[in-house]
Amino acid sequence: MKIASIVAVAGLTSALALTGFSLADDNDHDHQSYKRPKRLAVPSDASLVWKEECAACHMLYPPGLLPAEAWRQQMQTLDEHYGSNATLDPEQEREILDFLLRASAGNRLPVERSSTAGEPPRISQTRWFERKHDEVSEAKFARESVGGRANCVACHRDAERGDFDDDKVKIPR
Ligand code: HEC
Ligand code: HEC
Repeated sequence: MKIASIVAVAGLTSALALTGFSLADDNDHDHQSYKRPKRLAVPSDASLVWKEECAACHMLYPPGLLPAEAWRQQMQTLDEHYGSNATLDPEQEREILDFLLRASAGNRLPVERSSTAGEPPRISQTRWFERKHDEVSEAKFARESVGGRANCVACHRDAERGDFDDDKVKIPR
């Protein structure tokens, strides 16, 4: 290896370390080959604009559920937000983006694309989501009382506070 590339690799590694990413697999020594969110609690100084505007059509998704880059993609495509127009005024969008980037900066989740072309990433289509819910049938997610896999709060009462404790899960009838 030439000196220049050693320096480049060292630079890249420290840049990744600064952004909170790790090159090592984050597998918790329990043979999980996927990364799952760990810091889910919503910060107490969360943006009020975010709380209000991002819960206008669905539950409020805690920032720790997606990596910063996925939130950036969300905020860049609000005019085509899963078939809805969710644009706000530029100042509000900037405040929300700043908050989401700050609040998700510490997680090490990969950016996973939605299976629907042109859509920003979904929480409900990540590998960790599939794994955690492999015992929940499609029929249960489809129940009227549940309202689909993206409506976490139907089964995780305190989801909007970032509490997904499996002891508290309850699937409504
Ligand atoms: C005008 C309505 C509307 C507003 C406002 C809105 N959304 Fe959405 N959002 C939707 C719809 C519709 C979906 C798709 C829901 C589904 O497929 O069940 C969605 C889905 C999502 C998902 C993916 C859920 C999944 O499947 O994992 C995320 C993340 C999300 N929205 C974030 C936001 C954020 C952040 C804001 C605030 C900037 C916001 N939304 C504001 C309508 C809206
Ligand atoms: C139909 C009900 C239902 C919906 C909707 C649902 N979940 Fe779950 N969730 C469950 C069940 C059941 C488990 C498994 C609990 C267990 O392991 O005993 C679970 C487990 C989890 C876990 C792991 C908890 C732990 O302590 O290991 C996380 C994190 C999670 N869900 C997040 C979400 C998110 C985020 C959403 C929405 C995007 C969501 N869930 C939607 C039922 C649901």
